Amino acid sequence: MEIIANVTEGVIKKAAKALKDGHLVAFPTETVYGLGADATNEKAVSRIYTVKGRPTGHPLIVHISSIKQLDKWAIDIPDYAIKLANEFWPGPMTLILKRSELAKDFITGGQDNIGLRVPNQPVAFALLSEFESLGGLGVAAPSANRFGAVSPTTRLAVHEEIGSYLGSEDSILNGGNCDVGIESTIIDCTTNIPTILRPGAITFEMIKKLVKIKVDSNFFFTTIKSSGLLTSHYSPKALVTLNIPSEPGEGLIAMASIPTPEGSIRLASPKSIEEFAQDLYEALRNGDRRNLAEIKVIFPVGAGLAEAIRDRLIKSSSKKASESE
Ligand code: TXA
Ligand code: MG
Repeated sequence: MEIIANVTEGVIKKAAKALKDGHLVAFPTETVYGLGADATNEKAVSRIYTVKGRPTGHPLIVHISSIKQLDKWAIDIPDYAIKLANEFWPGPMTLILKRSELAKDFITGGQDNIGLRVPNQPVAFALLSEFESLGGLGVAAPSANRFGAVSPTTRLAVHEEIGSYLGSEDSILNGGNCDVGIESTIIDCTTNIPTILRPGAITFEMIKKLVKIKVDSNFFFTTIKSSGLLTSHYSPKALVTLNIPSEPGEGLIAMASIPTPEGSIRLASPKSIEEFAQDLYEALRNGDRRNLAEIKVIFPVGAGLAEAIRDRLIKSSSKKASESE
């Protein structure tokens, strides 16, 4: 396994070829790092599940370099979905569309639809473009963490999560820290009116300016369709507790305006909601690196991205409850 720190053209060429040959390449996106495989290669895709320890049958998002690749993977695309794609791609948004013949059960988990995304990150763009120039059609990539754990937003975090599960021909591309820091907004585009299944940096407020939109009624607790909506997700080893003051020896993540109680260990002090999203997963991870038993998080307030952060935090904090089920 090779960690590629300096992503040159040669490195991209080699990684794209490795993907084409059926190996895995972890790569940065603007949201979180993904663990990529050729989306048409069943054997390669099955290794994603092994490396992540993810139960099979959970659908994967296919990453493409541009909207031009969309109708290879999807059919009967509604007009509103094209509008969303034109406005927000490349960007932190995944569209769920009716699948084409190309999207096999091993990608969609047997569902009749497929998740597609055009990421907005230079290394990801270079990799996807090069892969397509070799005849590749799309790269399946879940977040590059072990199942149920926190998504990685740095190269080091990817290495800590899955490094020991990768083979000698697999690699991790470096793209520094992810800009957005939490996973893409997922929008179900298989019905008359689109529905937000997972909130993210493309917010309800942004979308509703463009098209009619619904939010899944069970927003925070739905267990169907989207595995990112199961309660055992986004969890560090430490117990995450929300909205109560931290005690001595416990970690604290809160907006910079909130002071640190004496003896608590400050893990992040973001000055804006954007910074909160950017820092959150690495801060949770730093709590684990320091072997903290408990991390207190004070919710950011407001709509938009703050809502997406609260969604992930509710899931991080419900780990112990779901484990005991
Ligand atoms: O930001 C992101 O979306 C990152 C980067 C790497 O692109 N990817 C990511 O993938 O978060 P993953 O697999 O960790 O989470 C994607 C979620 C899963 O909960 C999966 O079940 C859901 O999207 N999903 C994928 N395809 C779907 C489909 N066809 N229908 C419903 N949900 C789907
Ligand atoms: Mg994930």
